[in-house]
Amino acid sequence: MNIQIAIDGPAGAGKSTIAKIVAEKLGYTYIDTGAMYRALTLKALNEHINLEDAKSITDLLTNTKIQLKPSSNGQLVFLDEKDVSEEIRSNEVTKNVSKVASHATMREIMVDHQREMAKQGGVVMDGRDIATAVLPEAELKVFMSATVEERARRRYEDNKHRGIESSLEQLKSEIAKRDKLDSEREASPLIQAPDAIFLDTTELSISEAAQTILELANERMG
Ligand code: CDP
Ligand code: CDP
Repeated sequence: MNIQIAIDGPAGAGKSTIAKIVAEKLGYTYIDTGAMYRALTLKALNEHINLEDAKSITDLLTNTKIQLKPSSNGQLVFLDEKDVSEEIRSNEVTKNVSKVASHATMREIMVDHQREMAKQGGVVMDGRDIATAVLPEAELKVFMSATVEERARRRYEDNKHRGIESSLEQLKSEIAKRDKLDSEREASPLIQAPDAIFLDTTELSISEAAQTILELANERMG
């Protein structure tokens, strides 16, 4: 039996890394919903659209094609047929994405699109509102977190590997700011669903966290 696995949590908790492994092991589709909000943010920045204006952002999404395509080195993100997989990880996009993601009318369209993508069988989807809004019927819901210090340290290491110099303190404050915006917004805030399992990855390796989720998934599959 194929199931739906929803993984939510704050930035740097390990969601996408672990979701990718779980999907691969189960032969499921992995859907990175954060990448979709990032792609829309990139387009809004390129077109100098007012990020605070709900109507402009909603209209923009209506005229935008966002696609996720599996590839040998993970997942590629296409914005209006162009590969933007790297560009959407820029600092500029990261700093502005929570503003764009706060608009309820835009989110309705995004969520419809995500549900459509999840129809194709076994799926592992990660984001902020997957268990609460996108896939409320998911058989397995995980809320993944880690201390803000550890999450900032991970992002610092990520940047180092990509040749980007960063300050640990600045990363910590940017992550804390984004967590706050995502948790306190009115539209589908980042919150643990009542039936989600809490997984603290602070002291867990990537493979330990993936193993925990695979065991839970096997239980759900009976
Ligand atoms: O990978 P990282 O944790 O930095 O973030 P992401 O998953 O790429 O998500 C980027 C941003 O998109 C989040 O900070 C949220 O503002 C927004 N987002 C959302 O609102 N709902 C989702 N389901 C996924 C992401
Ligand atoms: O998707 P999310 O923002 O929740 O986190 P991520 O991008 O999957 O993980 C951020 C970084 O932490 C990646 O470089 C992972 O390899 C690393 N990580 C880790 O060191 N230990 C874990 N248990 C989970 C993730």
